[in-house]
Amino acid sequence: MTKAVILGTGSCLPEHTLTNAELERLVDTSDEWITSRTGIRNRRIAGKGEQNYQLATKAARRALAVTGIDPEELGLIVVATISPHMIMPSTACFVQAELGAVNAFAYDINAACAGFTYGLDLASAYIQSRPDMKILLIGAETLSARVNWEDRNTCVLFGDGAGAVVVAGSNDGRGVFGSNLRSDGKLWNLLYMDSPQSLNPELQRDEWQGAHIRMNGGDIFKHAVRLMEDAVTSLLRKHDLTVNDVGLMIPHQANIRILNNLRERLGISEEKVFVNLSHYGNTSAASIPIALDEAHRHGRLVRGDVVLLCTFGGGLTWGSLLMRW
Ligand code: ACO
Repeated sequence: MTKAVILGTGSCLPEHTLTNAELERLVDTSDEWITSRTGIRNRRIAGKGEQNYQLATKAARRALAVTGIDPEELGLIVVATISPHMIMPSTACFVQAELGAVNAFAYDINAACAGFTYGLDLASAYIQSRPDMKILLIGAETLSARVNWEDRNTCVLFGDGAGAVVVAGSNDGRGVFGSNLRSDGKLWNLLYMDSPQSLNPELQRDEWQGAHIRMNGGDIFKHAVRLMEDAVTSLLRKHDLTVNDVGLMIPHQANIRILNNLRERLGISEEKVFVNLSHYGNTSAASIPIALDEAHRHGRLVRGDVVLLCTFGGGLTWGSLLMRW
């Protein structure tokens, strides 16, 4: 059976690093508070020439270079993002134009921090019906444009960046073989980004401040740990696997305490969990593809190994995905 395999990975992080010490000068916080509560030490902040689609395009070029696939061979470009370059057209259309991927159709998806994992599941479904398709899947965010830099509860957590993968069909036993994606829209108000001011006064809501991230950190923490644990254990059980069968787990990079709690509940050893959040903070939909690319380049992804993704974000959206690398 044809399965969706990742042929190549790439990532692009903005040049500028914002340290915890610099944040101490912006809001009432401390390096000690941020490091002990979140594990984050640095995050990258986009500057001129580093719009969402530009980071996405650079990450995509790097992933394509690894595979030797020409942009014209791409049939589909999907960008997972909650900080698109524009509301319309999609960031994916900008990437398509930049790459000259004239044979691809292109669109964005919004599943918050779970966007890349949802996107890989989507790519896997396309491969079932069109096994010859070459798909470019990108997670890209410029969240620095969407956080309130006066709100210490949120501005210390997020960063900018992009990660990309090239997906194609394969019949050699490798590829995506299971997923468990979930949502709960009733809990939307635990983590959200409101809308720009409405030009229709009848549709305006006074509480909308203009596309800022708002969060109930404590509740998000509890739901994230419990729901990711559930998503992982039920998926492994369905495939008759245990954490011992997993070669590498790549979780959404939000917070080291969430990851440590999750790791302990799952009983998975520290060396099997890829963590890079101290360098980049939470890059939402970009966090897993950036981590995948680093893991790939550092030789942490071994051909034939079971790779487990797990994720959690606003919506709520969460889930897990299994693939043989
Ligand atoms: N610096 C200093 N103090 C701060 C800061 C800060 N940057 N941010 C909040 N505080 C204060 C609060 O105002 C509060 O003060 P108060 O008690 O006077 O009201 C106090 O710290 C809260 O302290 P704690 O309860 O000890 O904080 P907690 O241990 O809950 O940590 C945190 C807060 C880090 C936000 C935690 O709840 C968390 O990690 N939640 C998950 C958030 C997350 O990862 N969101 C990302 C999006 S979802 C996702 O991607 C999975």
